[in-house]
Amino acid sequence: MLVLGVESSCDETGLALYDTERGLLSHALFSQVAMHEEYGGVVPELASRDHIRRAIPLLEQVLQTSGASLPQIDAIAYTQGPGLAGALLVGASVACGLGLALDRPLLGVHHLEGHLLSPLLASEPPEFPFVALLVSGGHTQLMRVDGVGKYGLLGETVDDAAGEAFDKSAKLLGLGYPGGPAISRLAEFGDPGVYTLPRPMLHSKDLNFSFSGLKTAVLTVVKNQTTNICEQDKANIARAFVEAIVDVLVAKCLTALKQTGLKRLVIAGGVGANRQLREALNAAAQKKRFRVYYPELEFCTDNGAMIAFAGAMRLKENPDAAERNYAFNVRPRWPLNEIGAP
Ligand code: KG4
Ligand code: ZN
Repeated sequence: MLVLGVESSCDETGLALYDTERGLLSHALFSQVAMHEEYGGVVPELASRDHIRRAIPLLEQVLQTSGASLPQIDAIAYTQGPGLAGALLVGASVACGLGLALDRPLLGVHHLEGHLLSPLLASEPPEFPFVALLVSGGHTQLMRVDGVGKYGLLGETVDDAAGEAFDKSAKLLGLGYPGGPAISRLAEFGDPGVYTLPRPMLHSKDLNFSFSGLKTAVLTVVKNQTTNICEQDKANIARAFVEAIVDVLVAKCLTALKQTGLKRLVIAGGVGANRQLREALNAAAQKKRFRVYYPELEFCTDNGAMIAFAGAMRLKENPDAAERNYAFNVRPRWPLNEIGAP
């Protein structure tokens, strides 16, 4: 079965073709980062308009690179939510229009399910069950994953998401958008121990996170500078920030593995691309004897492949999951626990 995936929930337009027999045939992505950069964050209206410009050329691109033709598509999976309403509507309307024209069924995919299952696209995918740490710009959750659609929430952030903390702290240091990669790169040049930042909820017995205090601590350090911050000092602060956030994320993952008794940990979402986090998790995995799995770097951040794949996994389990219902129905706020089994 050939599934077309369409992702447009935020500032990346992603299309992909996934075949249940042959795997991922092709994927194409356009990132709007350069456009939003000058505003210091995503401008929703600009995002929607740009998705409109990109969707069809990207569709043509995935068809061309895969050698497939439109009539060969069996079903269309699109990101139904959560995300920016206008941006989601673009992907939904492209999917509905194509579905109607080709007489193919549609499947609305939960964006976070796409992220959660994205490590299964890797060459050595994990088996179920596993613990998943989902760390993106909008979410920070620890989950127990027993299968497609079988997700149990273990803990989540009570305020900012990890990616949000990266972005906001980077902004305070005058780094560009998105801040995650920038602050991570700068941290490499920082000296350890010059600044120590708090590790919020590190010792709370639960699996919840809190990152807004960490961002405020960065703000306080920046404000307390009597002179302009020099580049080295920025790097020192960046290093302290990355160390603090990585410490908390790793500690909570270890607790989640201990609580569930599982030996497989999966990292998903944009922050999963972070080098320092991967290094710390790899070291912990060796020491504590568990396995850690990551999506391919290109599938950590938003992409169409994870949506095509999540749709295909659902359809494999339940071919009736897709419907010939072409009314747009996006869900900008859609809790993951509402999606259920396929
Ligand atoms: O998963 P994603 O592309 O979008 C959401 O669904 O939110 O994640 C984007 C987030 C941004 O906050 C970005 O700063 C962060 O992931 N990010 C990183 C890195 N690459 C992306 N954070 C830290 N280190 C990175 N290398
Ligand atoms: Zn995402």
